Amino acid sequence: MPALKPLKKAVLPVAGLGTRFLPATKAMAKEMLPVVDRPLIQYAIDEAREAGIEQFCLITGRGKTAIVEHFDVAYELERTLAERNKQAELDVLRAMAMEPGSMVTVRQQVPMGLGHAIWCARSFIADEPFAILLPDDLMQCDVSCTKQLADAYLETGGNVVAIEEVPMERVNKYGVLDVDKDMGRLVLVKGLVEKPPIDKAPSNLTVIGRYVLMPEVIGHLAKMEKGAGGEVQLTDGMAKLIGNQPFHGVRYEGKRFDCGDKTGFLEAQIAFALKRDDMAPAVREFLKKYT
Ligand code: G1P
Repeated sequence: MPALKPLKKAVLPVAGLGTRFLPATKAMAKEMLPVVDRPLIQYAIDEAREAGIEQFCLITGRGKTAIVEHFDVAYELERTLAERNKQAELDVLRAMAMEPGSMVTVRQQVPMGLGHAIWCARSFIADEPFAILLPDDLMQCDVSCTKQLADAYLETGGNVVAIEEVPMERVNKYGVLDVDKDMGRLVLVKGLVEKPPIDKAPSNLTVIGRYVLMPEVIGHLAKMEKGAGGEVQLTDGMAKLIGNQPFHGVRYEGKRFDCGDKTGFLEAQIAFALKRDDMAPAVREFLKKYT
């Protein structure tokens, strides 16, 4: 296998309107909704950094400026915290500081689908492999899910996507794998279908919102062919890579919370609070009242 280009870039689409969380998302980006005390977008950035990602491109839209503010240095806040000797709080802010110039934003002017959003990042991607993280999918993994994909990329080369099995009656909500060879942790993929009708789905192995893709996908997305829901689908662009480049699914280790859904978001709050030593006992105690 020729030497692989290192994986240093990530694209994070954050242009969605968040209509399922109205009115909370009327004046606030849904990616800023906190799970315990971190906004969703920060979990995704932290996960990517744990995988060695150094450059980030957020695909934003109107009403998303709070996300950019969130990753900037807050001088006045830091000074006030320092004056009040709030060292723990300062440490929290400093741990999330971004390298100067490591985050760029691109506007997706018209919501034409996930594939179109990724295409908007083409100058950032240039000719390098890149990760995609959809912040709605919140991951709780011992090893960062993006790191698991980055490791698989080093093993197989080419494109890798995180996958999980879902009950057959829910396959129509996801990108679905047509499996060539199931090797356990790794699955060789021969086709991909976005949100197929249940009776037409090639399997119940679905793509979750974590990808490592080769830059050639941009050329396919550029054709702006509309797929499921009349949108330019990332899944369709990825499907066109198959046959020319390796394409694998990775059964990641960990748990995914669908924070684009109210129940999933609430479950994430509980699950993440239960992982915190400072909160778990109290949370366990109050949960007894509701079961
Ligand atoms: C997107 C992708 C889909 C993928 C899903 C994972 O769908 O288009 O292929 O399975 O994310 O969360 P969305 O949830 O944006 O409709």
